[in-house]
Amino acid sequence: MDKVAVFGSFVVDLMARSPHLPVPGETVKGSMFKMGPGGKGFNQCVAAKKAGADVTMITKVGNDSFANVLLDTMKELDMSQDYIFVNNSTETGIALITVDESTSQNEIIIVPGACNTITAEEVASVESIISRSEYVLLQLEVNQDANEMVAELANKYNCKVVLNTAPYVPVTDDFLSKCYMVTPNEVEAEAVTGIKVTNFDSAKRAAKFFRNKGVIDIVITLGDRGVFVSTHGREEIIPAYKVNVVDTTGAGDAFNGGLITSLAEGKNLLEAARFANALAALSVQKMGTTPSMPSRKEIETFLSTAEQVN
Ligand code: RIB
Ligand code: NA
Repeated sequence: MDKVAVFGSFVVDLMARSPHLPVPGETVKGSMFKMGPGGKGFNQCVAAKKAGADVTMITKVGNDSFANVLLDTMKELDMSQDYIFVNNSTETGIALITVDESTSQNEIIIVPGACNTITAEEVASVESIISRSEYVLLQLEVNQDANEMVAELANKYNCKVVLNTAPYVPVTDDFLSKCYMVTPNEVEAEAVTGIKVTNFDSAKRAAKFFRNKGVIDIVITLGDRGVFVSTHGREEIIPAYKVNVVDTTGAGDAFNGGLITSLAEGKNLLEAARFANALAALSVQKMGTTPSMPSRKEIETFLSTAEQVN
């Protein structure tokens, strides 16, 4: 049992870069446009796949040309298409991403489309893959009732649920209680717990909130300050690697894909967080989301040479 399943979104990312982000009513002349595979679920799955995980993607697309962006990428990366559902009446999801080329800040509107329409029957049909997986990785971009059904299934088979709480939508205590691990960023951690996470102490308090809901391991990403990890009585901040940032879009996904890969390899959470930090550091040096996920070789080279900062 070392398999990972990712149950989540696929959308086509439509990314534009411009000298600054437009304010309401403003039109800005951009410098670059790229279309490519995205969605937090698929980004995380590709990050895990390229990092070496035995990972299966479960998602849903429309009956349209954007779906080919998924299928072509899956073919290229030799990924199984057995669990790609199709909605004939709702389009494949999209994300409009604008990146400020001077600050690398981004703004995203995601319309999940088909992947927001996953049915109970479709969830039931993934029972066998969930039952064979050690971990299932969820995000909050697909319809939440489907996430809840998957978490329920996973609990039945002792498959550990790792929830990346992105993008933030309210979740029930019952759902949280079915999660083995949560990986919010500081903004999402505050949205769920009501605790503003600014330092080690506030991160500890937020972690306690999650533990009280039944979550075992808590990872709070703190951007370029690194990542707070709470696992079996050990709490630490693992610093981020210092690199030249080109585009942070998808960095959280790189992190989550790396984390699950390392955990599935039997590493403890502190080691896994270091490995995951390397994926994030590599991904921000490249433009785009799915296309910026590093290979295992790149990760290993990076880890053997990287300097940590505090
Ligand atoms: O995390 C980045 C992702 O968020 C993008 O790929 C975009 O699709 C949005 O969902
Ligand atoms: Na990137």
